[in-house]
Amino acid sequence: MDIRELFARNRAWAARMRARDPDFFSRLAHQQAPRLLWIGCADSRVPATQITDLDPGSIFVHRNIANLVVHTDINMLSVVQYAVEVLRVEHLVVCGHYGCGGVRAAMAERQYGLIDNWLRHIRELRERHAAELAAIGDPKLRERRLVELNVCAQVLNLARTTIVQNAWARGHPLALHGWVYDVADGLLHDLATTVTGPEALGEVWRMRPPTERG
Ligand code: CO
Repeated sequence: MDIRELFARNRAWAARMRARDPDFFSRLAHQQAPRLLWIGCADSRVPATQITDLDPGSIFVHRNIANLVVHTDINMLSVVQYAVEVLRVEHLVVCGHYGCGGVRAAMAERQYGLIDNWLRHIRELRERHAAELAAIGDPKLRERRLVELNVCAQVLNLARTTIVQNAWARGHPLALHGWVYDVADGLLHDLATTVTGPEALGEVWRMRPPTERG
């Protein structure tokens, strides 16, 4: 790809958008008001707004390899805090995808370098669900199941953050969803793992904000 071509394509795209809606960019320049936060995989085949057929301004996005919610990741936590406390989104989506290279690497019996330290979170998940995964004979289906288990685990990780717990405590309606995208047919699937309050969490994870005494 000629890198200069990207600028030509960008000018043509901006012109098309203006032709369709003359105020589109001036409206967005004023403020963004996305309805949901998307935590997805960095994979080039899973761009949030494109696969949901939405325009720029619709989705606040954080992407990393294998869509992980790691509690020491200040980058992810900053995105979640801004989305919840400033943009006041009401939906947080963790979207994984079948055919995820990160999940595949976490299932392999070899090293890949530095990234093994990031993918360790999935390897630990694989160990936790070893019995269920071992019962799946087809390696492709086993990998798909780990993709789903990973999404469910990351939704729970999100629910355990103080950002989400404090939002619920303030009465801010916040729904956490787990979705999977299939790169083979372009379709999104809801894993029906939606969490809308602290009830879904174990006792250990229910933490009162420091301002509350008792
Ligand atoms: Co991926």
